[in-house]
Amino acid sequence: MADIILKDVYKRFKDFTAVSNLNLEIRDKEFLVLLGPSGCGKTTTLRMISGLELPSEGKILLDGEDVTMNRASQRDIAFMFQLFALYPHLSAYQNIAFPLKTQGEKKDFIDKEVKRIAKLLQIENILKRKPKQLAGGDMQRVALGRCLIRKPKALLLDEPIGTLDAKFREEMWTELKKLHVDSQSTSVYVTHDQMEAMSMGDRIAVMDKAVLQQVGEPFEVYSNPKNLFVAKFIGSPGMNFLDMKAVPEGGKIILKFTGDGTSVEISDLLQDKVRSHHEEGRELVLGIRPEDLSLVSPGTKNSISGSIYVVENMGNHKIVDVELAGNTTLRVRVAPKVKTDIGDNVAVSFNMEMVRLFDADSGDSIMY
Ligand SMILES: Nc1ncnc2c1ncn2[C@@H]1O[C@H](COP(=O)(O)OP(=O)(O)O)[C@@H](O)[C@H]1O
Ligand SMILES: [Mg+2]
Repeated sequence: MADIILKDVYKRFKDFTAVSNLNLEIRDKEFLVLLGPSGCGKTTTLRMISGLELPSEGKILLDGEDVTMNRASQRDIAFMFQLFALYPHLSAYQNIAFPLKTQGEKKDFIDKEVKRIAKLLQIENILKRKPKQLAGGDMQRVALGRCLIRKPKALLLDEPIGTLDAKFREEMWTELKKLHVDSQSTSVYVTHDQMEAMSMGDRIAVMDKAVLQQVGEPFEVYSNPKNLFVAKFIGSPGMNFLDMKAVPEGGKIILKFTGDGTSVEISDLLQDKVRSHHEEGRELVLGIRPEDLSLVSPGTKNSISGSIYVVENMGNHKIVDVELAGNTTLRVRVAPKVKTDIGDNVAVSFNMEMVRLFDADSGDSIMY
């Protein structure tokens, strides 16, 4: 068992709050990804979990034990930071063996463990080399090996593959995920890359400006973002947004697109959400993903008219940009065979089940 609990955690540097009121529970054996833009407090959070930094307020529990005031060496946690360094004068083998050697383990045991890790990371053939004789990806594997050899209760990784090229990064995602499954250690993985987060995380914790915005499984965070920040940060191409006004009409609530006044009928569920959040008569932001829009002929009920002005052919699908009134563009994902000529007048309709509504002032979702 190795769950990690952060309770009301703050980290302040003089007047500056780097992490604010963080409450987060990382489950035993979970792969949790901490995602957010540069400077939002990810590394600081990881450093507090590791014990390299003490919180200004709050508690950290590891495996049920309060470790808030324990230094890094007193916590059974391994970490690999952005700017990891291998010992240049030691071989890959010696680098990986290092943590066990300092713990005073026997030579036979160390040898067995280094070989086990090297096999896992597929670096058995480079163990004799010094760091400067290694390619970037291999250096990162060696650094990972050095982390994993301790069989830590928890593994913290801070953008460990940030600098590698695209193809290799995707291979590493798969490998790290396998490694996590094999090593069974609770892992916290930091990245600013939402694709990486989606592909690796059992759950994703999204941070912005020192504040945790949402925690959930990738699909939950993707399909039902808590606020506009999360909605904009996750997904590529991103979620579409339309300014709407919630207007009572004949006992129902409909949405009027502020660009050209088009009315759109909404589901009973959405009407209930609008009523229960007291959003009647107010402006709302409608959010919808490109795959939940479709192109229909102009004049179709509950659709909004516009014209096609850019088409991106992606092979297995197309992304069509449709320009609407009021400076609004919708990006629509369609099948490759759908006819999409630039300049065509079209209309866009919504998969109502996937429509999300946000308060225009606070940016908060009203779906919760
Ligand atoms: N030791 C420190 N002293 C002062 N400010 C710091 C210190 N460490 C981090 N910060 C600030 O805290 C904020 C969050 O930093 P960090 O956790 O490294 O962000 P991230 O890893 O998400 O990019 C940044 O604005 C950074 O400048
Ligand atoms: Mg960082």
